Amino acid sequence: MRLPSEIDQVLKHECGARHCPMTQRVTSTLGFTADDLRTYLGTYWPRSFVESHTIMRSLLNNSVYRDTLQHRDQIRIMDIGAGTGGNLAGLLWALREAYLNTGRVVDVVSVDGNAGALAIQKQLIARLFGPQVQLRVVQTVFDSRAGLERLLPGQAGGNGGGFDVIISSKFVNEFYRTKTAYERNSGMYAALFGLAERRLLPEGVAVLVDVNDKCAGGFFSEVLNREMNEYTCASPEGLAPLLPLPCLLWHGCCASRNSCFSQAVFGVSHSMLPCYSGSDLCKVTVRVMARRPFAGLFRLGVSPQPRYTITWSPWGYDSCGGGVRRQYDKRRYTDGYLLESAV
Ligand SMILES: C[S@@+](CC[C@H](N)C(=O)[O-])C[C@H]1O[C@@H](n2cnc3c(N)ncnc32)[C@H](O)[C@@H]1O
Repeated sequence: MRLPSEIDQVLKHECGARHCPMTQRVTSTLGFTADDLRTYLGTYWPRSFVESHTIMRSLLNNSVYRDTLQHRDQIRIMDIGAGTGGNLAGLLWALREAYLNTGRVVDVVSVDGNAGALAIQKQLIARLFGPQVQLRVVQTVFDSRAGLERLLPGQAGGNGGGFDVIISSKFVNEFYRTKTAYERNSGMYAALFGLAERRLLPEGVAVLVDVNDKCAGGFFSEVLNREMNEYTCASPEGLAPLLPLPCLLWHGCCASRNSCFSQAVFGVSHSMLPCYSGSDLCKVTVRVMARRPFAGLFRLGVSPQPRYTITWSPWGYDSCGGGVRRQYDKRRYTDGYLLESAV
C-alpha cells in the first residue's frame, strides 16, 4: 500500500519526518526525544498506519461487522501505547474510507507514557481528521504489567461506557525485552484481553499488533498465541478470536496452543524512503478478538477455506487447516489475515 499522499506530505513537510531505521533503539521508545520521534515518524509510523489500516479494512469486509458499526451514532476507540498515532490514524483512515466517520463523532482515548509523542499525535489527528475525531490523551508511565492492570481501567473512563475498538500496537514487546522483564511482566497480552472483556461493547473488537522478533518467551507471535490460549482457557465465556482466520474457525481444535509462529506481512511505500528502496515490509503478529456471541455472528460473514497461509519465509509458506499447522509449503493459500469480501 502507498501511504496516502496527503499524510505523506504532512509527515514530511509539517512534522520534519525522516527515514532512518534505528533497529535496536526502537525496542525501547518511552524515552524518545523530539529528534527520535521525527525519525520514528518517517520510518515506523507509516508501517503502523498500514498495519492497522489493512486490519480494519479487512474487518470491514465482513458484512456483519460493517453493518454493526454503521448503526452506531458514535464510535469509541481506546489506544494503549498509542505513541505518535500511526496505528490510530490507519484505523481512522479505514473508517473514513468506508464512510463510517460521516455524521458520527469518533471519540478516542489514547494512553502513552511519552508526552512528546502524544503531543505529535494530537497535532496529526487534528490535522488529518478535523473536529469529528475527539481525542483525549492520557500520559501515564506503566512500571510493569501489574501497574498497567492497576491504572488502565481508570484511564478507560470510570463511567463504564463501552468501546467499539480497543487497540494496542507494538507496545507490549517493550515490557518483554530482557529475561528479567519478561519474567516480571509476562501475561500483559492476556491482561489487555481481560481489560477488553470488561470494556468492549457487545460488538466491539480488541486489536493487538506487535513486532515479531524474539524475547525470552520465544517469538512474540508465539508468546501472544500462548497468552491468548491461557486467557481463553481462563475465560471461556469471554473473548474469542476473529483474526487470524484459522483462529476464528478452528480455535477450539487448535493443535498448536503452546507455540504457533504466525506473521502478517504488509508492504508500504512513501516518499521518505530512499529512492533505491521500492517499499518497506511490515512483519507483525496480529490477534483480533471479540465477545464470543459476536465472534459467532462474524463467522457467518466468512466463507471458510480449507487452509490459510499464516506466514512465509524463504523456505516456503506456513499454513493452517483444521487447526493443524503445516510448514514450508510451496503453495500460497488464502491469506489468513485478509477478508477479501463480504459474503
Ligand atoms: C513502538 S511505539 C508504538 C507506538 C504506536 N502504537 C505505533 O504502533 O506506532 C511504543 C509506545 O509505547 C510507549 N511505552 C513504552 N513503554 C511504556 C511504558 N512503560 N509506559 C507507557 N508507555 C510506554 C512508548 O512511549 C511508545 O509511544
